[in-house]
Amino acid sequence: MQGRTLTSDKPLLVLGIETTCDETAAAVIERQGDGTGRILSNIVRSQTEEHARFGGVVPEIAARAHVDVLDHLVDTAMKEAGIDYAQLSGVAAAAGPGLIGGVIVGLTTAKAIAMVRNTPLVAVNHLEAHALTPRLTCALAFPYCLFLASGGHTQIVAVVGVGNYVRLGTTLDDAMGEAFDKVAKMLQLAYPGGPQVERMAAGGDPTRFAFPRPMLGRADANFSLSGLKTAVRNEISRLTPLETKDVSDLCASFQAAVLDSTADRLSVGLRLFAEKFGPARALVAAGGVAANHAIRGALQDVAAKAQSTLVIPPPALCTDNGAMIAWAGAERLALGMCDAMDAAPRARWLLDANAAVPAGFANSRAGF
Ligand code: KG4
Ligand code: ZN
Repeated sequence: MQGRTLTSDKPLLVLGIETTCDETAAAVIERQGDGTGRILSNIVRSQTEEHARFGGVVPEIAARAHVDVLDHLVDTAMKEAGIDYAQLSGVAAAAGPGLIGGVIVGLTTAKAIAMVRNTPLVAVNHLEAHALTPRLTCALAFPYCLFLASGGHTQIVAVVGVGNYVRLGTTLDDAMGEAFDKVAKMLQLAYPGGPQVERMAAGGDPTRFAFPRPMLGRADANFSLSGLKTAVRNEISRLTPLETKDVSDLCASFQAAVLDSTADRLSVGLRLFAEKFGPARALVAAGGVAANHAIRGALQDVAAKAQSTLVIPPPALCTDNGAMIAWAGAERLALGMCDAMDAAPRARWLLDANAAVPAGFANSRAGF
């Protein structure tokens, strides 16, 4: 950390850069001295088209695509915000966890801007940015309970303060979005698979296949999704060739199992939260999976049972974006935290530095 301290009562203007996966994003936010925030620009360019024919994200293609568009995106974000580089209080980039080629592109660009414009650099943990987003969207006070479910992460985390996170649960194998994507691929649905599975599930029978409800009733708040995925694969092999009705019923039954498991895991997570920090006033959902309407409904029930309020940022701020990186940068700058020019890009980066890796952990994509 560099020791360039800023006072928290000064408004901050921060540029944020996100390149950890398959979205290239740049944004400018303003943070007031009272801790409230405003988005001045937020530009996201998805690489879905580049990766679609491969059925998933190809790291090398992702890194090259970030290089192609990032300069222009940063420029557009600054112009749309109507500010000059000289006005920036700092520049933040996601320094991980994520696909290392992409992370290098974003972090190096931020370092160049910071150096040339003599402004502080903040190397942001992408997971911290998801965790702090509800403080931008609705000025949520600490502590709160976060359910983060995306293509690379599935965690329940107590958000205690900036830089202070306690992991309450995590997946032992696949991330939740990854499980949706893999099921979609098995069913030959388009990439990214989550929204396709949700769409097919809407017309299907969730009771036709009795898929396992992973981890149900366990005292810890961890997830496991690979067994469920295998059960779907076995059913597909048994039924092939599949009719449209089979695909719908498989999607609906898979989604129902995910919902039951998620509700159970989160109710344990909220109980663990209450034991450590008192009843959670808010349950926050973030990550692409939080866009799933059925999952939102399940979370609503879990939150209500725990007498907690469900907070879900707007979909564009649940999925990867630059505003969340800029905001996390601003929250750090307000506390006088910034990084040196040798800040390293990181493929893996724990949110809670002291977390033990759970027994049976075998996650391939998550950055823990
Ligand atoms: O947060 P995100 O945009 O990117 C990262 O992975 O960081 O999340 C993308 C993931 C993908 O796996 C996608 O299939 C899943 O979120 N997803 C969904 C839905 N929309 C996106 N999963 C289930 N239902 C959805 N409606
Ligand atoms: Zn993300």
